[in-house]
Amino acid sequence: MKVLVIGSGGREHAVIRKLKESREIGKIFCAPGNGGISVLAAPVDVKATDIDGMVHFAKTEGIGFAVVTPDDPLVLGMADALEAAGIPAFGPSKAAAQIEGSKVFAKSLMKKYGIPTAKYEVFDDPAQAIAYIQRENRFPAVIKADGLALGKGVVIAQNLGEAKEAVRSIMEDRIFGQSGSRVVVEEFLTGKEVSVLAFTDSHTVVPMVSSMDHKRVYDDDQGPNTGGMGTIAPSPYYTAEVADRCRKEIFLPTVEAMNKEGCPFKGCLYFGLILTEQGPKVIEYNCRFGDPETQVVLPLLKTDLFTIFKAVREERLDQLDIQWSAGAAACVILASGGYPKKYETGFPIQGLDEQGQYPGVIVYHAGTKRQDGQFLTAGGRVLGVTGLGEDLPQALEKAYGAAAKIHFPKVHYRTDIGKK
Ligand code: AMP
Ligand code: GLY
Repeated sequence: MKVLVIGSGGREHAVIRKLKESREIGKIFCAPGNGGISVLAAPVDVKATDIDGMVHFAKTEGIGFAVVTPDDPLVLGMADALEAAGIPAFGPSKAAAQIEGSKVFAKSLMKKYGIPTAKYEVFDDPAQAIAYIQRENRFPAVIKADGLALGKGVVIAQNLGEAKEAVRSIMEDRIFGQSGSRVVVEEFLTGKEVSVLAFTDSHTVVPMVSSMDHKRVYDDDQGPNTGGMGTIAPSPYYTAEVADRCRKEIFLPTVEAMNKEGCPFKGCLYFGLILTEQGPKVIEYNCRFGDPETQVVLPLLKTDLFTIFKAVREERLDQLDIQWSAGAAACVILASGGYPKKYETGFPIQGLDEQGQYPGVIVYHAGTKRQDGQFLTAGGRVLGVTGLGEDLPQALEKAYGAAAKIHFPKVHYRTDIGKK
């Protein structure tokens, strides 16, 4: 069978590497893909958000199954369009993807169904938002743009001045475009953050191994938020007891709530959780695999990923017994100096073999280009180096050992992934 994976990052590389293990798959295509991915999957020159172009390609090429990985095509209805054209697709419908596409939708869902989350108010008028923050006078205050904002639509304001600035830039200057027509102002929560990705077919929920992201660009959680500078799995804070509570209080109620709202969720549902003193609460939902969470979670998966994707789509996830390795994984992101702000690209990467790999680790390509057999940097996040081990220290040692041997001009990576 021919399989099409939509997207172009390290997460897509991880999905494709896992799908390669499936005997049922003949050839994998990736639209648009990247340099490292092109070693495993044929690149397709169609943008991830180009629905008509994607459906046309899939029909012409005789694609037997498609995997829609990033948030924006899902929120635009890519999975629905492929299915309508007769191409089986893994990924939630447009209606179900609202759980990530609109923070207002997600927050009202949690309020209506009693799913633990931060207290909040919604505003479509900047003056009212500011008046509310002033009245509450509780800092830090959390201000979130309603729609998608490349993971950058959240501001933790330390004082009224910062809050006013955030509301203005989101709602008046529209730094995130239409995503800022409404804002959510919510209570600041404290606790350890844990990411749990789960397969769900809208009846059964199968949580994957837990993980922990490192969102800030510099060590000790300093500097601006990024898409994620590194991950570890499993999270040492996600004990069996916490997992049990999350399942009962968050995972099952969320899937049930989506059914009751008439938008059953089928795909990978990402729970961004914070373990507060009152118990686990939801910080955010994503309608897809996390990046770089996937780069530590999927290497620990023992079951055939394609079998899982098909079972999710066909609503028979209850028939599978999904298995995980007992060890740990750590991923260190090598980024272009300057990311998440301005950075240069086009630098040659030293230390990789002709497959774009390094011995003893898995190198996931996030932003690379392949030219005359050489890999060049082509994005903010360039590579994700994943080490696997019997435990976290071993996994970290492998990842950092290799990261130090891979080089390109102005490379930046955090040296404290997994240290906390
Ligand atoms: P999000 O894009 O919703 O994941 O938010 C980005 C980051 O902001 C999260 O990973 C948290 O570190 C932080 N954050 C978001 N909401 C809250 C909150 N209510 N309380 C504390 N931190 C938050
Ligand atoms: N790493 C966070 C995300 O994928 O949203």
